[in-house]
Amino acid sequence: MTQHTSSTLVIPEVQAIPRHVAIIMDGNGRWASNRFMPRVAGHTEGLAALRKIVQECRRLGVEYLTVFAFSSENWRRPPEEVGFLMKLFLKSLKSEVARLAENDIAFRLIGDLSRFDDAIQQMVKFSEEKTADCKGLTMTVAANYGGRWDILQAMRKCLIANPGLQAEQVSEELLQPHLSMAYAPEPDLFIRTGGEQRVSNFLLWQLAYTELYFTDTLWPHFDEAELHKAFDWFSQRERRFGRTSAQLESVPMSDAV
Ligand code: IPE
Ligand code: IPE
Ligand code: MG
Repeated sequence: MTQHTSSTLVIPEVQAIPRHVAIIMDGNGRWASNRFMPRVAGHTEGLAALRKIVQECRRLGVEYLTVFAFSSENWRRPPEEVGFLMKLFLKSLKSEVARLAENDIAFRLIGDLSRFDDAIQQMVKFSEEKTADCKGLTMTVAANYGGRWDILQAMRKCLIANPGLQAEQVSEELLQPHLSMAYAPEPDLFIRTGGEQRVSNFLLWQLAYTELYFTDTLWPHFDEAELHKAFDWFSQRERRFGRTSAQLESVPMSDAV
């Protein structure tokens, strides 16, 4: 597994196209309600939007796309909506995995899988294995994921891996490999659709130096043009990682992709 450096320990290389894009796909329910449709119709429409965004990220040379599909707090929703989302997840994995493999897209899941039923757990395992050698893009779905859960599970694994670890020995280097996204660089660009400006317990650790982009567009309406808008905004950001603007002028930007 590739070890990726931390933005707080090493200054990352900056590129015009983000290497890693993380998205909170929000606004499905409102999209449906605006049309006097049941909320769950918005989730089906949201899946269609995701297909387009995955393809466009692949085309543009994004290396990692991570999407929040179901948070550790989404179990608080009405059981019918949770049940619908579970069925949709299983169905879409079954119908999409071959297409992902054909397009050289690796599928990964982060989150506590143990709460999902056996059929989903098996399908996730199958999808990850089937696409394990794909190199074009790594698409990660965060399901039953919470940023706090991630940090806590990493801390537990870290303590197990390092018996007798003293408090003063705990470091980023020891913890990072146990975080669920240890296989990817930290996100360069975070996108949240649906108008809310919050992180909702998404990648808390990994967003330390990520550029945060918020749009009122509801997720089912987020298309290629909307993605380009977000990327254009991203390319205008000055990513200082704690340095001053003047210091940046002497650092050449890496070749644009
Ligand atoms: C995001 O859309 C999808 C999930 C959380 C599964 P929402 O369902 O949160 O849509 P809104 O925010 O209610 O419009
Ligand atoms: C965040 O959206 C989670 C997902 C998109 C899966 P929510 O709609 O659940 O977030 P809050 O409740 O508005 O913060
Ligand atoms: Mg929402």
